Amino acid sequence: MTTPSAHAAAQYASTTGNLSARIAIYDYRTNPQDWYAWAAERLPRDGHVVEVGAGTGALWSRATRPARLTLMDFSPAMCQRLRAVGNASVVRGSATALPFAPGSFDGLIANHMLYHLDDPEAGLREFARVLRPGGRLAVSVNGRDHLAEIMELLPDRTTRVHNDVLAENIAGYVGRFFDDVEVRRYPSELAISDAEPVLRYLASQARAPLTPEQEAGVRETVAAAGVFRVRQHVVLVTASAAQPGRVGRQ
Ligand SMILES: C[S@@+](CC[C@H](N)C(=O)[O-])C[C@H]1O[C@@H](n2cnc3c(N)ncnc32)[C@H](O)[C@@H]1O
Repeated sequence: MTTPSAHAAAQYASTTGNLSARIAIYDYRTNPQDWYAWAAERLPRDGHVVEVGAGTGALWSRATRPARLTLMDFSPAMCQRLRAVGNASVVRGSATALPFAPGSFDGLIANHMLYHLDDPEAGLREFARVLRPGGRLAVSVNGRDHLAEIMELLPDRTTRVHNDVLAENIAGYVGRFFDDVEVRRYPSELAISDAEPVLRYLASQARAPLTPEQEAGVRETVAAAGVFRVRQHVVLVTASAAQPGRVGRQ
């Protein structure tokens, strides 16, 4: 049984392809405003902001740049891609041992990455450490039923390995280290009329290529639905870094 961080390394260390295949499924969202644009309106943007687990940097084609931006990821492939974002420092490092001094940032964004950590509290403790007191945190995670209809298509083949951080319990996790915790849900679902993006999404998760029979089954299900409706359950959590004595209180 693999760990969340080993799974994340296998998915992301040497390729941006798995992440790009997964982002593409959201082209079928019912909300005309995509997730990144919706989140961008609610993110910290004052002073020096760091994005931890920045991936391909997709957020920064939608979000207004802060005065100073640092992009961080543990994947060499992602860091290479992040250098193309421009006007940002790119740093390779781990979310649970951030290569930054205490109080370095006014804002920290961790978009869809907290569930990849073996110890999510270690990550949140680090986020609190590198933010100045009163600095702003923005974290996004998924709900238990996120993309359930896709995951149910091939329940034995998908290998999503995450820790237990979900939309349902994220406020409790963040509240152990931060103040003023607010959770907001992005309003959307997916309405998919073509099996190919579903197959690409499933392939990005699978241990081995899908068999012709599995592919045919997925095509049949999507075609039979006409419009294949899929739940999208994503929340954005914002919070403020506490005063030093507060950090780590249970
Ligand atoms: C699902 S992707 C999200 C990427 C980006 N934030 C976005 O929303 O488009 C998760 C990202 O977190 C990175 N990541 C996973 N575990 C990490 C860790 N322990 N430290 C730093 N980055 C990590 C992965 O390499 C990947 O780029």
